[in-house]
Amino acid sequence: MSTFRLEDLKQYSDVLRTRQGEPLNVRFVEPRDTEELQHYFRSLSTRSRYSRFFGAISELPKGLLHDFLQVGERERFTVVATKMVDSFETIVAEARYALHAETSTLEFGLSVSDRWQGHGIATALMKNLECRAAALGAEHMFGDTLRSNETMISLARKSGFAFVNHPDDWKLVRFDKEITVASKDIPCASWRLAALSRQAESPSALA
Ligand SMILES: CC(C)(COP(=O)(O)OP(=O)(O)OC[C@H]1O[C@@H](n2cnc3c(N)ncnc32)[C@H](O)[C@@H]1OP(=O)(O)O)[C@@H](O)C(=O)NCCC(=O)NCCS
Repeated sequence: MSTFRLEDLKQYSDVLRTRQGEPLNVRFVEPRDTEELQHYFRSLSTRSRYSRFFGAISELPKGLLHDFLQVGERERFTVVATKMVDSFETIVAEARYALHAETSTLEFGLSVSDRWQGHGIATALMKNLECRAAALGAEHMFGDTLRSNETMISLARKSGFAFVNHPDDWKLVRFDKEITVASKDIPCASWRLAALSRQAESPSALA
């Protein structure tokens, strides 16, 4: 199991850009985000929340909120993308991902606040998740979405995912992609840190 010390979490942060070039900080969620995260989900439109959780909820139920705030436990992780708005660090997107080590796959779900949809944030966040997945040793990444979610289906298609039927639920479609991250790009902090720790474990490999 991956272990993350709270004081170390910040080193896994990345700066992404919206399509207009505005910076976004992508970082693991922290306990101090509890209120802001719940506020983020409450503020999503009913439709966006339904698309994210495949059911009608007005906020994260207590158990799910607790799960969202755990980073690394059972190889599950939550990241938030934040922006400074009127000097407040505001969550504009979130993603939750889980490593299934037995199949070398990473499962994920994500959302972008309605106000910020259409700015290329999900495109950039999915690319970042791909890098985080590679750093965890995953070979494929996949997500599930409602068959009616044209936005997510179009986004997944443009991001190079292929579609398969969901194994258990006909209302859902699964999108899956083989992970290809060019090591020369070192496109996220997790990748860099994983490479450094591999180097520390077997320094002779580079001699
Ligand atoms: C799906 C979602 C994550 C997309 O986020 P986003 O940041 O708006 O996406 P992007 O701006 O990166 O858009 C990427 C592509 O998605 C598609 N897209 C975006 N908005 C769209 C819309 N309103 N209608 C149809 N397609 C759309 C387009 O193909 C777009 O590419 P383009 O801008 O080159 O045309 C966002 O709409 C969302 O949070 N929805 C609610 C939660 C959800 O559906 N999650 C997915 C299931 S886990």
